[in-house]
Amino acid sequence: MKIKSAVFLKSVTKLSDCPGSGAHDFAFIGRSNVGKSSLINALVNRKQLAKTSGKPGKTQTINFFLINDKWHLVDLPGYGWAGVSKEKKIEWIAFVRDYLQNRIDLYCLFILIDIRHKPQAIDLEFINWSGENRIPFALVFTKADKISKNKVDQAISVYRKRLKEDWEILPEIFVTSAVNRTGKEEILKYIETINSF
Ligand code: GTP
Ligand code: MG
Repeated sequence: MKIKSAVFLKSVTKLSDCPGSGAHDFAFIGRSNVGKSSLINALVNRKQLAKTSGKPGKTQTINFFLINDKWHLVDLPGYGWAGVSKEKKIEWIAFVRDYLQNRIDLYCLFILIDIRHKPQAIDLEFINWSGENRIPFALVFTKADKISKNKVDQAISVYRKRLKEDWEILPEIFVTSAVNRTGKEEILKYIETINSF
């Protein structure tokens, strides 16, 4: 798919403030600093459409971008910021949960995971929560440029094995790098396919 236009629409902190045009949402979530905003920029070939930062917790609102006048990329705040206690588990801002559970236009939630780390409880809990809530999701491993191809394959197979403990059918999995654009075409193609239904 060719990206002809990408414009910032609005930032919201309430479900009722989300755009009501009926355009499909493709949203990005994951731990703070995993690379959500960077991946969105890579997908649309723009350096700072979505604001990125070296410091975790940069994105704190739900940010809508209109792509090709037709569909939305949605940048979400990360979960698992420092200061959130373990007992609280999936304790992140109520409006994000409200968006995820009740947004009718959410066609795919891309759950981002840093490829360098072993399966982490917080991500696994979030994946399971998404499944239980029947949210359509895909997994996206980020920062693949930081390790070798061998290590990438190894990490994916460890993750698959771990997921199989909880799930019979595994979700779609993408390997990406915002630095060298790995996985970009695959994700755009996936979005295009979903949009064509
Ligand atoms: P929050 O909005 O704070 O939740 O973070 P985020 O998930 O949006 O992460 P962001 O895109 O701001 O990136 C965090 C840091 O990781 C920045 O310093 C990015 O430059 C870096 N980064 C993101 N993606 C990649 C990647 O694919 N490769 C490398 N090497 N660095 C990346
Ligand atoms: Mg961000």
